[in-house]
Amino acid sequence: MSASKGAAREVIAIDGPAASGKSTVSRRVAKGLGYLYVDSGALYRGVTCAALAHGIPGTDTEGVLRCMAEREFAWEVADGAVTFTIDGVRPCAELRTEAVNQNVSPVAAACAVRVQVVEWLRGMLCFGSLVMEGRDIGTKVFPDTPYKFYLDANPEERARRRHGESQEPVSVAEVSASLQRRDTIDRRRAVDPLKVAPDAEVIDSTGMSIDDVVQHILNAIATRRAEST
Ligand code: DC
Repeated sequence: MSASKGAAREVIAIDGPAASGKSTVSRRVAKGLGYLYVDSGALYRGVTCAALAHGIPGTDTEGVLRCMAEREFAWEVADGAVTFTIDGVRPCAELRTEAVNQNVSPVAAACAVRVQVVEWLRGMLCFGSLVMEGRDIGTKVFPDTPYKFYLDANPEERARRRHGESQEPVSVAEVSASLQRRDTIDRRRAVDPLKVAPDAEVIDSTGMSIDDVVQHILNAIATRRAEST
């Protein structure tokens, strides 16, 4: 994949903490614009999943890197998104297990893992214009994009939303504790921590409907385009 092939293409960066509504909103914004959706967190989850399948915990960075080098990660476009396969198999539900939730933050905090994942993410421009959600899309992966949004919501609402999506028998309090633990690691890690890009628009989605947030972002993109022509 070559990022240079896609130099004229656009990226909409949507960053924010876990369960802030990024995935649903980003998918809908991508559909509205006719762009491809990318869930960058799924790549960190995929790496974690591959490592766990070989008995390697997320804290074993050497083991995780070895596993990344030995597995074949490949990209494909499906259902309006750029997705990936690992050794020819597209992971789905296994990306969202509690085991992956527990192990993914240390994987995502490892510098060498991030260097590889950022390169993969930049390369996805070869497929077309993108709406990419994550933690460092506006600050690190595509810092030059003029379209940056930072979605947030209060911790109680985020815990309620994530609990509603969970397939496992966990309480809201457990989900809340897990979210807070991951937020802290994501915000405090040395490499590309979760933070608001100086030129990002912050949207607090607490009490807003998905439709409202999507429409707000589409309007902001249209305004920015009109201002730059
Ligand atoms: O968005 P998510 O919960 O699926 O992300 C999984 C993990 O990956 C989480 O610990 C944050 C991290 N991540 C990251 O560090 N950078 C990104 N661009 C996306 C996710």
